[in-house]
Amino acid sequence: MDMPTKQQAVASNREAWNDSARHHKDSPEWQGVLSAVSQANFCCLDDTLRGVLEQVGVEGKDVVQLGCNNGRESLSLYALGARRVVGVDQSAAFLEQARELTARSPHGAEFIEADIHHLPTELHHRFDVALITIGVLNWMPDIAEFFRHVAQTLKPGGAVVIYETHPFLEMLDPEAADPYRLDSSYFRSEPFVQHQPIVYEGKIEQPAAASYWFVHTLSAIFTGAIEAGLQISHFKEYPHSNREELYDRYEKQVAQLPLCFTWVAVRV
Ligand SMILES: C[S@@+](CC[C@H](N)C(=O)[O-])C[C@H]1O[C@@H](n2cnc3c(N)ncnc32)[C@H](O)[C@@H]1O
Repeated sequence: MDMPTKQQAVASNREAWNDSARHHKDSPEWQGVLSAVSQANFCCLDDTLRGVLEQVGVEGKDVVQLGCNNGRESLSLYALGARRVVGVDQSAAFLEQARELTARSPHGAEFIEADIHHLPTELHHRFDVALITIGVLNWMPDIAEFFRHVAQTLKPGGAVVIYETHPFLEMLDPEAADPYRLDSSYFRSEPFVQHQPIVYEGKIEQPAAASYWFVHTLSAIFTGAIEAGLQISHFKEYPHSNREELYDRYEKQVAQLPLCFTWVAVRV
């Protein structure tokens, strides 16, 4: 397999996400969010993320969500008292959905189309909290570079809050005959490549731009953040799954794997 450059991988991921936006709109979840978002206290964040955000404190704060997708999580931040919310994503098609949701919401979140590696300067040194949720880190070809860009968005004392899938899961294939057999190295350096539309449940048998999913070890995540001038203040692993339904099979085991984590780091 010819490896793409970092820029090629990011560009191909953009194409794949743009193409997949129409499939996500076909889901019952979209219809549910579309009607719920008009409530001032709309919040689709689960208790785990809510708890961490409440601990960090978003009340009266300016928050940026990087990789905001259709903006439903960004809009949820108002229920926690956020003063201003900006969502950033490189997919124009998903931001169109975010604007559709905002038009129904009483809150005025702003959505900006940008690759996280090329954030406009107006986003620099502006936020109290930068939020990154489920399924963002692995689209980044270089996790250390990613954290340098994330850190730039924060005011001194501002915090990055991450709620992500656990990298141990990248070693397993939930669809394998034995879903517990170690299938791929924890230290894998080449990305997983998919040529079908990116959907959260099931598969759509249609060709799509290649999407590149990069595996990052916990140590790479920690080191990347530390090198970007961030001081880690919280890290917790959980036995529940926050990713595609297929991964629910790893929950409630006697020998339980960590399935997701929350993580906070402060810009010093
Ligand atoms: C799995 S989604 C995040 C979903 C989010 N947790 C939610 O539930 O809405 C990942 C998002 O990251 C965005 N993304 C991937 N690479 C990006 C990049 N380099 N810059 C900006 N956004 C990116 C994709 O367009 C996609 O919308």
